[in-house]
Amino acid sequence: MIKKIAVIGAGTMGHSIALNFSIYGYDVNLYDTNSTRIANVEEEIKEELEFLAEEEFIEPSEIMKALSNICYFTDLQEAVMDRDYVIEAAPEILKLKQELFQKLDEFCLDHTILASNTSSLNLESMMALISNDRRKKMIVNHWYNPGHIMPIVELSFFGNMPEDIYLKVEHLYKSINKQCVKVLKDIPGLVANRIQQGVAREVFSIIEQGIAAPEDIDKALQFGPAFRYATTGQLEIADLGGLDIWCTVGDNLLKVMDNSLSANSLLRRKVEEGKLGLKSGEGFFKYNQENSSEIRKRFIQKLIHQLKASEYYVEKKTSLNNI
Ligand SMILES: NC(=O)c1ccc[n+]([C@@H]2O[C@H](COP(=O)([O-])OP(=O)(O)OC[C@H]3O[C@@H](n4cnc5c(N)ncnc54)[C@H](O)[C@@H]3O)[C@@H](O)[C@H]2O)c1
Repeated sequence: MIKKIAVIGAGTMGHSIALNFSIYGYDVNLYDTNSTRIANVEEEIKEELEFLAEEEFIEPSEIMKALSNICYFTDLQEAVMDRDYVIEAAPEILKLKQELFQKLDEFCLDHTILASNTSSLNLESMMALISNDRRKKMIVNHWYNPGHIMPIVELSFFGNMPEDIYLKVEHLYKSINKQCVKVLKDIPGLVANRIQQGVAREVFSIIEQGIAAPEDIDKALQFGPAFRYATTGQLEIADLGGLDIWCTVGDNLLKVMDNSLSANSLLRRKVEEGKLGLKSGEGFFKYNQENSSEIRKRFIQKLIHQLKASEYYVEKKTSLNNI
């Protein structure tokens, strides 16, 4: 059974992965090469826990308990040497991840399972420098941002790992109330990101062609397909609507839709102009940067409300008994 966890990289994803396990009582070591980041991340995690308490996602009394479950490291070997499960959430650079996994293979116990949170790299290439034995204990576990709120994790089951090890990892994620998506082929982007990119490609194309204003395009998604997607997946929607209809509409529409093989040119132009979205004050919409932390908070708040309204939401205490 997995009890002791290490998270490698304390950035956007790593700190929220550590936070998520800590509120469910897991013992977590959080490591980063950047000592300034390690010095500051505890305060950031504390503020996020306080916000979760304000939103009644956790009890106020759980804040200090969760904080005490996380230890902070800048020495990799110390961070991982007694761990059962190590999640790499370092930058998306193949060579960096290969070398990191080589060190983890050396520093970790024989039974330790190594996981990568990669968004786009192949498992096979990330395993290039690790031993044959460790290959059987290596998995992609892809979280979604913000990790401590989004209820999904995608798990690889690509044939390198025996089923009993996969089931241990699945059990770990079920114990923190994640919905596990088992992915059977070693393809970049796994499942959820590929679906999202398909939608985003058409959305960027619609705005580029001037078919609707940005707020109307987002409204069409939010109150159209995405409104159903929050409760019912695409394949079930197709079944409910009738596959014959989906076939006819597909033949009519797909030939006039965007099929480009690289990022949209309007998107690229905005990036070149420094219009990066909230972080620069303008993207498709304009933002008052003084309010940026409030805007982010409101985004998280809406996700928490949606999560609580979901039929799959399980009170945290119920799941704690599973550890
Ligand atoms: N940001 C997202 O929305 C998102 C979502 C899912 C998956 N991912 C994936 O998660 C991983 C991390 O992404 P992120 O957005 O958290 O990145 P980030 O840049 O926010 O954080 C990366 C952290 O890793 C640290 N780091 C750099 N070199 C390191 C090393 N050699 N060892 C350990 N730590 C090191 C950095 O100091 C930084 O704190 C990437 O593989 C990314 O593709 C990101």
